Amino acid sequence: MPATASYSCALVTGASSGLGEEFALQIAPRVEKLVLVARRETLLVELADRIRAELPHVEVAVFAADLNRSAEREQLLEQLSSRGLLPDLLVNNAGLGDYGEFASSDWGKLQSMLGVNIEALTHLSHLLVPQMIERGRGAIIQVSSLASLIPIPDFAVYAATKAYVTSFSEALRLELREHRIPVLAVCPGPVRTEFGEVARRDPNKNIPAKKSFYVPKQQVVAESLAALQRDAARIYPGWKTATIAWVLSNLPRVVLRYVMGFRPRRS
Ligand SMILES: NC(=O)c1ccc[n+]([C@@H]2O[C@H](COP(=O)([O-])OP(=O)(O)OC[C@H]3O[C@@H](n4cnc5c(N)ncnc54)[C@H](OP(=O)(O)O)[C@@H]3O)[C@@H](O)[C@H]2O)c1
Repeated sequence: MPATASYSCALVTGASSGLGEEFALQIAPRVEKLVLVARRETLLVELADRIRAELPHVEVAVFAADLNRSAEREQLLEQLSSRGLLPDLLVNNAGLGDYGEFASSDWGKLQSMLGVNIEALTHLSHLLVPQMIERGRGAIIQVSSLASLIPIPDFAVYAATKAYVTSFSEALRLELREHRIPVLAVCPGPVRTEFGEVARRDPNKNIPAKKSFYVPKQQVVAESLAALQRDAARIYPGWKTATIAWVLSNLPRVVLRYVMGFRPRRS
C-alpha cells in the first residue's frame, strides 16, 4: 500500500476462504477497521476471532451477505454507513468459476458467476467510489485473473467475466487518477484455494493445471499489496504467471486461436 497513504478501514469480499482470507490477514495489521464479507458467516467469524486475538486494536466486523443479490449489497452499504465502517480500501475479491462446456452448463451457476464476478464487483465499486472521492482518499483492488487475457474454451464465461474485470479496472483507474484513488487489477494464474472445487462439475475430476505453475496465496497477496503501493495498473503475481501473461499479450491472435484449440479437457 502507498507508504504515504494509510487506510483506516478495509473491506474484503470473499473473505471466508482462499485469496480473500489471505487479503484480510495481510491487510489487518495496516488498518484500524476491517470488514469481512461472504456468505459463510461461521468462517468469517472464525477469521475475525483469529485477527482480533493477534491484533486486539483492530476493529473487525463480519457481514454475511450473498453478493449475488442486489438488495443484500444495498443493505451492506446501509450497515457500513450506520456503523461508521465505510471503507477507504475496497478489495473486490469474491468470485467463482465454472469449468466445462458451455452447451451443457447449468444456467444457475453461470448466472451466479456473472452476478458475483461482474455485477457485484461493479455495484460495490459504484456504491463506494463516490464516498471515496468525497472524502479525498481511497483505493480499490479488483481481483481478476490471468484468464482475462484470453478466450478459454471450457472456461468461456469465466474468462469473459475476468476480461470485463480487467478492462473495467483499467478504465476506472484512469477516471480516478485525478482523485488520487489507485485501482489495481490483480491477475493471478492458478492458486490453491477452494476455487477448483467450486468450478469443477465432476468432483472426481480436477481442472487441468500444471502443478509447477501454482503460486502460493501468500505470495499472490503480498505482491498485490506491493503493486498497489507503487500504483501499478495490473499485477500478474509470480514470475511464471508474469511470463505467461507477457507471451499471451504479445502472441498474434491467429497463433493464440490455434494454441487454444488444443483443449486439455478433450484430450
Ligand atoms: N484460485 C485461483 O486459481 C484463481 C486464479 C485467478 C483468479 N482467481 C480469483 O480469485 C478470487 C478469489 O477466489 P479464490 O481462489 O480465493 O476462491 P475461493 O477459495 O473459492 O474463494 C471465493 C470466495 O468468494 C466468495 N463468494 C462466492 N460467491 C459469493 C456470493 N454469492 N456472495 C458472497 N461471497 C461469495 C466465497 O465465499 P462464500 O462461499 O462463503 O460466500 C469465497 O470466500 C476470485 O475472484 C477468483 O476468480 C482465483
